[in-house]
Amino acid sequence: MIPVCEPTLTGKELEYVTECLTTNWISSRGRFLEEFQDQFAEYCSCKYGIATTNGTTALHLALAALEIGEGDEVIVPAFTMAACIDAIMYTGAKPVLVDATVDTWSMDVSKVEEKISSKTKAIMAVHIYGHPCDMDHLAQLAKRYNIAILEDAAEAHGAEYKGQKIGSIGDISAFSFYANKIITTGEGGMVVTNNEELADRARRLADLAHSPDQRFVHTEVGFNYRMTNMQAALGVAQMTAIDEFVEARRTHAHSYNQQLQEVPGLTFPVEKSWAKNVYWMYGILVDEAVFGISRDELMASLREKGIETRAFFYPMHQQPGFQDQGLFHQEEYPVAEKLGMTGLYLPSSSGLTESQIAEVCAAVVDIAEQ
Ligand SMILES: Cc1ncc(COP(=O)(O)O)c(C=O)c1O
Repeated sequence: MIPVCEPTLTGKELEYVTECLTTNWISSRGRFLEEFQDQFAEYCSCKYGIATTNGTTALHLALAALEIGEGDEVIVPAFTMAACIDAIMYTGAKPVLVDATVDTWSMDVSKVEEKISSKTKAIMAVHIYGHPCDMDHLAQLAKRYNIAILEDAAEAHGAEYKGQKIGSIGDISAFSFYANKIITTGEGGMVVTNNEELADRARRLADLAHSPDQRFVHTEVGFNYRMTNMQAALGVAQMTAIDEFVEARRTHAHSYNQQLQEVPGLTFPVEKSWAKNVYWMYGILVDEAVFGISRDELMASLREKGIETRAFFYPMHQQPGFQDQGLFHQEEYPVAEKLGMTGLYLPSSSGLTESQIAEVCAAVVDIAEQ
């Protein structure tokens, strides 16, 4: 089976994790944590990095650092991963959805302003599947309405917007290092920012809000979102290959594009002139009327041929768990709905070989011709 995504752990991962075990630095202090936070923040052109337990807690921490809470609203794409909505709900704020664009699949920034109210405190810009969200328009709105921008860059390590690294554009950003991400720490996440005040607040909240002056005096309700030194050891090892992983994913996307472009009824990922897409996942849309079979049928046929795929995210307004909370009833986001119904991603690991890509493409072509 060609897996849809697997990590590449062929560097110093084992050596560094072993060092944690043999030196007893296994909790949330140690040399790897400092190194990983510094190296990753610098990679994102940010001054500060605060490592967390995962990407969801990084998002929550970033929202908490921005002091978002009950009575506030946060604008977020309808086509995203549930963690975005969850993190907003943890703060007591209300998520307000915006549809996706048909080409980049990220939030349609032209539809954001109509969703801004006196309660809007932040816009969560999600760089979906590795393609950056169009940030300039959001920056203008943020300035005009005095609202913050939180980048959810969980899927976009190394992506660029107009030559600037994703993660350094908004006020504060969150990354994930889950095993399928461009670099991984097993589970893990990081908040990055260039704002010293936000960084201090995020660092304090991630560690139970100990008072800076006196340990075990807690200035507010905090969280334990601390990453372990063992996770950070993986992160430091992965950092040595991050550019290689990004380039591999871009090369793979180019190969897929070339080998699949003649197949009727498929839509491929784009790279806008202003963007560097890191193709975290190589997604395609299946137009059943032209391709001949549905997305789900294509996924099933590929599975029979030993190729694992995943369906795109189902839109947030259609999630029963959020509807049960009284959210998003009667709301419609046609682009997000179409993406959720017709999108799938093909194997996308950084370690994929050209012959595996050729095998996947041959299988898609074969199914299309039947
Ligand atoms: C866009 C987005 N945001 C947040 C997350 C949450 O990250 P984690 O799984 O590390 O909690 C993910 C995870 O895949 C994601 O894709």
